[in-house]
Amino acid sequence: MSDSLVTIREVSGHVGQSVRIGAWLQRKRSSGKIAFLQLRDGTGFIQGVVAKTEVSEDTWEQAGKLTQESSLYVTGLVKEEPRSPSGYELVVEGIEIIQVTQDYPITPKEHGVDFLMDHRHLWLRSPKQRAVLTIRAEIKRAVNEYFDTNGFTQVDPPILTPTSAEGTTNLFHTKYFDEDAYLTQSGQLYMEAAAMALGKVYSFGPTFRAEKSKTRRHLIEFWMIEPEMAFVDLEQSLRIQEQFVAHVVQSVVQNCRPELTTLERDISKLEAIQAPFPRITYDEAIEFLNQNGFEVPWGEDFGAPHETAIAQAHDRPVFITHYPASIKSFYMKPDPNRPEVVLCADMIAPEGYGEIIGGSQRIDDPELMAQRFEEHKLPLEAYQWYMDLRTYGTVPHSGFGLGLERTVAWICGLEHVRETIAFPRTLYRLYP
Ligand code: 4AD
Ligand code: MG
Repeated sequence: MSDSLVTIREVSGHVGQSVRIGAWLQRKRSSGKIAFLQLRDGTGFIQGVVAKTEVSEDTWEQAGKLTQESSLYVTGLVKEEPRSPSGYELVVEGIEIIQVTQDYPITPKEHGVDFLMDHRHLWLRSPKQRAVLTIRAEIKRAVNEYFDTNGFTQVDPPILTPTSAEGTTNLFHTKYFDEDAYLTQSGQLYMEAAAMALGKVYSFGPTFRAEKSKTRRHLIEFWMIEPEMAFVDLEQSLRIQEQFVAHVVQSVVQNCRPELTTLERDISKLEAIQAPFPRITYDEAIEFLNQNGFEVPWGEDFGAPHETAIAQAHDRPVFITHYPASIKSFYMKPDPNRPEVVLCADMIAPEGYGEIIGGSQRIDDPELMAQRFEEHKLPLEAYQWYMDLRTYGTVPHSGFGLGLERTVAWICGLEHVRETIAFPRTLYRLYP
């Protein structure tokens, strides 16, 4: 037997061999002459079986000392075991304890969410949290794969900015030496500049909103994917959005079955996520809501209950298009046939997960853009560079932003976005 470690993920290639694994003990069950060790090493889970009559006295003693989350090196023979969820079992031959852990705070009993969030650094070790982070990583991989293979160039916009991108009410302020600076709310305006240089671009990074909303869909720090495309109109953008989201969901279905099973996710609901996605206009949404027990006057924005009601009528994400200009961002292009609405769309996820994408065609006309700056009382000097994009070779262009955490929550079937990122930043939490 060699000294090098084998991971639990790799044991299938070592059936009938003796291997050494670095692991933590999740749980232990023993009955006089036999101990069952539930072991994990980050790559997976395996049961180690220690038989008193088959191992040295010392090994049996070591097994007896192991507590929850004790760390150890274990050597054993890999055996196929059809009854085990992993398909394999370890017939333990030797145990080398690294540390016997005392009083691990997270026990198999139920804990409240606040307690678990205070121990987030340890909670991450549980099978469900591990499954969520694995799926998040697969979603990120699939996002990059989609754009990298469809002619997009990844560009990184700045995180420290002199101005706001999505309104001034929820900016995080900081000092930039003698100047004022803000943490970015969205890379979009910079991505528009990048699209004029590279055609089709996307960004993928953290964004910040000092939002006093304490809902299950809001984080203070969240990650956004922001594609921006020159010579692309709203209709073409919607087609890209539905293909992109379907690709991400199907990648998870294909590559993360064990994790979806751990989360008890209904996989058939995810398999249904195929392009095209249904579309309704804001006007149709208002009509639908008012026929279904709501009272929403034209011109008002939708809240979570409205979005959920609309989503429930569909088995895949739904686009709501053509919102009133008055409730949307300053940069959205008015519909030429009906200037009181804009060429925009929100994508609402199924099963009550709410808005996962906000996007639009952008204003390309320099005069209208200048007018919008005035109407929104935005300081033109600070946005001169953004105006330049309309002055020097303006073209029709569109883009959108997908919120990573809401997408992870939806795909994983999680109640709250706080479990979708390793260390969530929420209204009342900066620790750990
Ligand atoms: O709709 P939003 O605010 O759009 C923008 O920021 C545009 N500049 C994007 C663009 O066109 N490039 O945000 C986009 C998405 C939302 O649909 C939502 O999924 C997510 O970002 N999001 C949040 N996710 C978690 N916590 C928050 N506080 C979020 N705010 C927005
Ligand atoms: Mg939005």
